[in-house]
Amino acid sequence: MSLFKLSPYSLIEKKGKEPIVAITAYDYVSARLAEDAGFDFILIGDSANMVILGEPDTYSIGMEEMLLFCKVVSRGATNTLRIGDMPFLSYQVSKEEAILNAGRFVKEGRCHGVKVEGGEEVAETVSAIVKAGIPVLGHIGLTPQRSMELGGLKVQGKTIESAQKLLNDAMVLEEAGVFGLIIECVPSELSKVITEKIKIPTIGIGAGPYTDGQILVFHDVVGLYPEMRPKFVRTYFRGYEAFKKALKEFIEDCKNKNFPLEKESFKISEKVLKQIKNSVKC
Ligand code: KIV
Repeated sequence: MSLFKLSPYSLIEKKGKEPIVAITAYDYVSARLAEDAGFDFILIGDSANMVILGEPDTYSIGMEEMLLFCKVVSRGATNTLRIGDMPFLSYQVSKEEAILNAGRFVKEGRCHGVKVEGGEEVAETVSAIVKAGIPVLGHIGLTPQRSMELGGLKVQGKTIESAQKLLNDAMVLEEAGVFGLIIECVPSELSKVITEKIKIPTIGIGAGPYTDGQILVFHDVVGLYPEMRPKFVRTYFRGYEAFKKALKEFIEDCKNKNFPLEKESFKISEKVLKQIKNSVKC
C-alpha cells in the first residue's frame, strides 16, 4: 500500500482529473464494505449520532463515542484513507483543545485527518490544527452542528449575502490549509462557482453535479435509515425492507419448525447417545 494513497493530500491531485467518491462508515462491517467497494476515502461522520445512536441530530455525540467509531472503522478499512469528524464543542473552545482533540483522532482513532464544520469563524483553529501536522477537511453550507443557528436542515446560499459568505468561507479555509472542502446542501451553480475558484477539491452532498467529488451517508445509500430521505439522496438498495424481510422469514421458519434442519445441526455418535440415554434412566 502506497503511503501517498493514505495521505489526504493525494485527493488534491484528483481535482479536475477524476471524480472523488466518498462514503461515511461507523463500524467494522460498513468499513469493510466501503473498502471492498473502492471508495477514495471514508468519513467517520458525526451523523453516527443519528444513524447509529438514534439521536435526532448530531449535537450530543462526544469525543469518546467518535473515537470508538474511528477505531473500529480503522480495523475494517486498513487500506483506505480515513477522516474523523470532530464533534460539536471539541474544537470551538480553544485552539489548544482543538489540536489535542484532533490529535486523538490520529493517535487513538488511527485516522489520517479530521473534518471541522464552519467557515471563516473556524479558520484560525483549522490553521492551528494543520500547523500541528494534522490534515483538515473543511465543511461549509448546511453544517448540522449549526442547525439551531441556521433554523433547521435548510439549503444554504440562496441569497446574495449567504452565497457571498460561502464563497468567502471557501477561500478563507483554502488559505487556512484545508486539503478539501465538503459543500452540503447548496445550489448547484453556486458550488460550481466555488469549485472553479479554489484549487483544493470540493466534495458535494446535496450540492449538485459540478463539485470535484460526492459523498453520501452509508445508511442512505443502502436504504437503512428510513427516518429521513432527503431529496439529494439516491438510495441504491432497499436495505431496511430487505433486512426486515429476512428477519421475518427467520421468525416464521422457527415458528413453523422449519429451522434448524438436520443439516444445520450437530451429530453425536450412536454409542455416546446410548450411554447418555442409559444414564438418564438410572
Ligand atoms: O457527519 C456526516 O456524515 C457528514 C457528511 C454528511 C458530510 O458530515
